[in-house]
Amino acid sequence: MSYGLLRGKKGIITGALDERSIAWHVARRASEEGATLLLTNAPVAMRLGQPSALAQRLGVPLVPADLTQIADIEKLYDEALKYFGGPIDFLLHSVGMSLNVRKGKAYPDIDYEFYQKTLDVSAISFHKLLQIGRRKEAFAEGGSIVALSYIAAQRVFPKYNDMSDAKALLESIARMFGYFLGKERGIRVNIVSQSPTPTTAGMGIEGFQAMYEYAHQMSPLGNASAEACADFIVVLFSDLTRGVTMQTLYHDGGFSAMGVAEELLR
Ligand SMILES: NC(=O)c1ccc[n+]([C@@H]2O[C@H](COP(=O)([O-])OP(=O)(O)OC[C@H]3O[C@@H](n4cnc5c(N)ncnc54)[C@H](O)[C@@H]3O)[C@@H](O)[C@H]2O)c1
Repeated sequence: MSYGLLRGKKGIITGALDERSIAWHVARRASEEGATLLLTNAPVAMRLGQPSALAQRLGVPLVPADLTQIADIEKLYDEALKYFGGPIDFLLHSVGMSLNVRKGKAYPDIDYEFYQKTLDVSAISFHKLLQIGRRKEAFAEGGSIVALSYIAAQRVFPKYNDMSDAKALLESIARMFGYFLGKERGIRVNIVSQSPTPTTAGMGIEGFQAMYEYAHQMSPLGNASAEACADFIVVLFSDLTRGVTMQTLYHDGGFSAMGVAEELLR
C-alpha cells in the first residue's frame, strides 16, 4: 500500500546489491511512496550482484562509487545534484564489509590492515558521505539521513567480530553529525538497528543461521524482516518524524529489550 509519504522527495540509496538487500527493499518502498531516486554501489558490486538490474527495474540511475574513495563520493554528489536539479531530501547508508569476518579471523587475532578496511567501509564511509555532502550543500533543509546498524554495537556477539566496533563507530558518527546537520539545516540523522536478516552481508557472518533462529525466538514479534525495515525507514525519511534525530532506533521485534525468552529455557 502506498501513502504518498515521499511524494516530491529526492534521495540517494547506497548498497542495493540484490533482491535480498535491505537497501533494495528501501529503494522499492521509497519509489512506491513517490520518491525520485538515485542508486549507488561499489564498482566491484556491479560484477558480483545485480545493482544495474535493480536500477533498471525502478527506472532510476545507478552511479558506481566506492564509498571509501573521496573522489568517487564527490562524483556521486555531482551527478546526483545534476540529476535532481538540486539537493536531496534523504540518504540511506547501507554498506558493510569485514575481511576479518570473510577470512575467518577471530576477534582477538584480527589482521590490522583488514580492521582498517572494516572501519573504513562500514563506518568512516558514512562520515565521508556526510562531510562531502555537507560541503557540496547536497542536503536539503529538513532532510533525513539513515544508516543501518546491529545490536552488536552495544552487546557482545563474538562472531560479529570487528563489525561490532565498526557499528559502534557508525552510531557515534550519526550522533555527532546529527548535532551539526540538525543545528545548521534541521537535518535528521538516525540509525536503524535491524534484526538479523538473510542477505549477502548477513549470511557472511559465521553461524548466521543459529544467530537468526536464536534472535527469532528471543523477540516477542520475531525477527523484523527487510520489508518491515524498509517501511520503517520510509517513515523516517518522511515528514512524519520531524522531531527524531541522533537516535539508534531498534527495529528488531523487541529483541533489544529482552532478558530471556521462556522458549529458550525449555
Ligand atoms: N543482514 C543483517 O543481518 C543486518 C543486520 C543489521 C544491520 N545490517 C546492515 O545493513 C546494511 C546493509 O547490508 P545487507 O544486510 O542489506 O547486505 P548486502 O550485502 O545486501 O549489502 C551490503 C552492501 O554494501 C556494499 N558495499 C560494500 N563495500 C562497499 C564500498 N566500499 N562502497 C560502496 N558499497 C559497498 C555492497 O556492495 C552491498 O551492496 C549493512 O550496513 C549491514 O551491516 C545487516
